[in-house]
Amino acid sequence: MNIAIDGPAGAGKSTIAKKLAEKLGYIYVDTGAMYRAMALYFLEQGILPSDEAAVSKAAEEVDISIAYEDGQQQVFLNKANVNGKIRREEVGNMASSVSVYPSVRRKLVALQQKLAETSDVIMDGRDIGTCVLPNAEIKIYLTASPFTRAKRRFDELKEKGQDCDLFAIQKDIEERDYRDMNRDESPLRQAEDAVLVDSSELGINEVVQAILKIWQERN
Ligand code: DC
Repeated sequence: MNIAIDGPAGAGKSTIAKKLAEKLGYIYVDTGAMYRAMALYFLEQGILPSDEAAVSKAAEEVDISIAYEDGQQQVFLNKANVNGKIRREEVGNMASSVSVYPSVRRKLVALQQKLAETSDVIMDGRDIGTCVLPNAEIKIYLTASPFTRAKRRFDELKEKGQDCDLFAIQKDIEERDYRDMNRDESPLRQAEDAVLVDSSELGINEVVQAILKIWQERN
């Protein structure tokens, strides 16, 4: 059984998916981390996101893989663990910019589909229900208002002691939404058979319980 969770940046997909994976004994696959690892490579190589030819050539050459340590996904870029380097905003924005290219998506989608062939997975991203796992038994489209998502990110950064501006974060989120939803190649959208969950007014446990209920109904 596979569970697909799609939705915009900051909707809480990874937090929810991790908790569900733990409860159900599934493997959690964070596909955004793969796009981020590839983006990190382009940043390190000084490749501009607008240079499709250079991006495509580098995407073919680069080796991205994942492994699990104590149940936690680790992503490797040319065999080096880059988990600690891919969470920066700069890397997320680069990932969003280069994920428009078919050459980038083709490679990572193949890797994602291979992972789902061998285990029960709960996979999150933007195109899981629509492209990567169109036959997933459960599809969730998890969203929240741009303000709610920006506020969550703002609180997270504040807690880490980082100085940040709520409105700048919201603007960044809206720009990322626009790019992810309006690209030609596998844009972010709710699959026809996905259940819409709006987490704006819900806590983490309420969302987890709502999805567990759907899982129980289908088992
Ligand atoms: O989920 P995230 O913020 O880690 O993802 C970073 C970017 O990667 C996101 O803005 C768009 C791209 N992405 C994608 O195009 N398809 C996916 N399945 C996952 C991420």
